[in-house]
Amino acid sequence: MTTDTTGTVARDGDSRPGGPADSPFIRACRRRPVPHTPVWFMRQAGRSLPEYRQIRASVPMLESCRRPDLVTEITLQPVRRHGVDAAILFSDIVVPVAAAGVDLDIVPGTGPVVAEPIRTAADVERIRLITRDDVSYVDEAVRQLVVELGDTPLIGFAGAPFTLASYLVEGGPSRTHAKTKALMYGDPELWHALCGRLAEITLAFLRVQIDAGVSAVQLFDSWAGALSEADYRRFVLPHSTAVLSGLSTAGVPRIHFGVGTAELLGAMGEAGADVVGVDWRTPLDVATGRIGADKAVQGNLDPTVLLAPWPAVEAEVRRILEQGRAAPGHVFNLGHGVLPEIDPEVLTRVVALVHELSSRRADQG
Ligand code: CP3
Repeated sequence: MTTDTTGTVARDGDSRPGGPADSPFIRACRRRPVPHTPVWFMRQAGRSLPEYRQIRASVPMLESCRRPDLVTEITLQPVRRHGVDAAILFSDIVVPVAAAGVDLDIVPGTGPVVAEPIRTAADVERIRLITRDDVSYVDEAVRQLVVELGDTPLIGFAGAPFTLASYLVEGGPSRTHAKTKALMYGDPELWHALCGRLAEITLAFLRVQIDAGVSAVQLFDSWAGALSEADYRRFVLPHSTAVLSGLSTAGVPRIHFGVGTAELLGAMGEAGADVVGVDWRTPLDVATGRIGADKAVQGNLDPTVLLAPWPAVEAEVRRILEQGRAAPGHVFNLGHGVLPEIDPEVLTRVVALVHELSSRRADQG
């Protein structure tokens, strides 16, 4: 083990020059100099790709997440096609809670739907903790992928307790998160019991991925922006901290992302992130002021810009790279996931443009 200047413990073996731990993506996460700004896209594996739609035509979503051969192929598709700087494991945030015994499905066009929503202490008790054996297909897929990817880093991920709780309490996607918030305000004890259990499951799930060889992890708290900062700090931060700080000695950078989180960026960084993901509403230089100079940022092109003519895309990419220079490390990404209707050729062009505009000669540092 070696400790780098950012205080992060690096794992032996994988920090050889040119290996994944020395890749532009991991270097940016650790606020080290990079040859170019690294870029990947949330939801880069998915319906924007015809080769993905072909595989999924005959296989339901959850089944595809449980078949290591399919997980490997789908994860590799955007790396082959776009030349992105990182792969993200093909899975879904509800995979570990399904493994913990919650009866749910991912319904096309809707998202996760839970058969019996979680509303009581007895419901919470029924959510088991998970072991590696419950998610052996993830362990196997990550091991295969690390071999296939070679020097390209693989990002593991999980859903954060608040976003998972929202699906479990609502029973499905929700615009207002009304039932979730009613439970949070009305029965704080039950709320903390639920989130405490979800944090344990999430931590176990991320540890399986790290042990199998992922180079970084991203904790998605997609819906945390529904809360005020005070409520976030009281009801959510302790549980996200349990997950992220629980991985502080794991030797991989931790990214923490949510949507609509302008008011929460500082608190989300405090949860124990090395990199804070920012949506398109907050310019990266402003975000850096809120997050602090001891963390890198990730983002933040509005995915809908990719539906506009190329000159508009190019102007936005230039602006984001410029504003990203205010941060001590910048990973280029979208402000949320790729939309299914986005032309994949535009994504490939964005990768090339980010690399071209940000490439630095070695003597420039
Ligand atoms: O490429 C990647 O980013 C990795 C794959 C990935 C998926 N889900 C695959 C998926 C990741 C990282 C996720 C995380 C996820 N899942 C989040 C957090 C990120 C975010 O978008 O905010 C959330 C909130 C979910 C829950 C979920 N699962 C939703 C809202 C949906 C979309 C419903 C729909 O059909 O529009 C899903 C299904 C899902 N997860 C798909 C994919 C590729 C679509 C399934 C399909 O192909 O039909």
